[in-house]
Amino acid sequence: MIEQFAKDVDIGFSAQEKTLSSKYFYNKLGDELFVKIMNMPEYYLTRAELEIFTQKTTEMIEHLELDSRRHFELIELGAGDGTKTKKLLAAMNANSVSYDYIPIDISSNALETLVANVSKDLPNISIKPRQGDYFECLHSLKNSDHPKVVLFLGSNIGNMPDDIACQFLQHLSDNLNAHDKLLLGVDLIKPAAIVLPAYNDKKGITCAFNLNLLQRMNDELEADFNIEAFEHAPEYDEVSGVAKSYIKSKCEQEVVIKAIGKTYHFSAGEKIQTEISRKYSDKIVNDIISDTEFDVVTKMTDNNNYFADYVLNKK
Ligand code: AVI
Repeated sequence: MIEQFAKDVDIGFSAQEKTLSSKYFYNKLGDELFVKIMNMPEYYLTRAELEIFTQKTTEMIEHLELDSRRHFELIELGAGDGTKTKKLLAAMNANSVSYDYIPIDISSNALETLVANVSKDLPNISIKPRQGDYFECLHSLKNSDHPKVVLFLGSNIGNMPDDIACQFLQHLSDNLNAHDKLLLGVDLIKPAAIVLPAYNDKKGITCAFNLNLLQRMNDELEADFNIEAFEHAPEYDEVSGVAKSYIKSKCEQEVVIKAIGKTYHFSAGEKIQTEISRKYSDKIVNDIISDTEFDVVTKMTDNNNYFADYVLNKK
């Protein structure tokens, strides 16, 4: 794990434009900060998707073709805290749909919290959490006889560049059977005045989330980053719909990373790209599913048209 981190840092910092994968945000502190981000007034994404899950559950159940005569598997990729999913689970219970809820996550901590949260409110549902890699878990589920509905919410797909998102969806569709469904939650393209504050909140929570990467390198890779000498620098291009987060060096400086045995030079204003958060349109969604076996069944949006949950059907 540490070796992989060191390797990824070295590759990213040796590139012409420095990068570091956003997957390293999520250590214990990063997980806690992300929960705070989801509750910030500026982070409209969570509220908008919750609105869809609260107001459009009947439509959702209809388009997912959840039929009370057939037992389903409801598989969620990435555990989350269950708030949105609980709305769907409760509505499915009210419709007497029979199902197993199977959240998949690499983090056993996240799964435990989710299971505790869901079972507290909905004690009668069958939860079968799986800890591990999404695709290994999906592959092992592929041969069950039950129809599947996969949830991939929160615009998590937006943290992948489009070519990787395409591959991810291809791989996902390969692991499903005909008529299985995918509920894909994506943030929609909108003006910078709305998007940028979501990634640059007044209280500095997103800044702490981003700069935590430097602390992680100090703690785990024996690096000597002076965190005060760097700043959080988000950008958003309204035309392409791509938000990017950077860590920017405030001055010219050198940083030693002992675990790698190298020193890295940063010029004043030089940036490390730490995240991409793509925003979508129908065209972009259609482009990323064009090489898959998925068709769009329907699109549900919140009242502001900020966020969309697409129901996709595997042909
Ligand atoms: C997890 N992901 C969808 C979040 C996003 O909006 O890209 C991560 C995040 N980064 C900064 N704020 C939230």
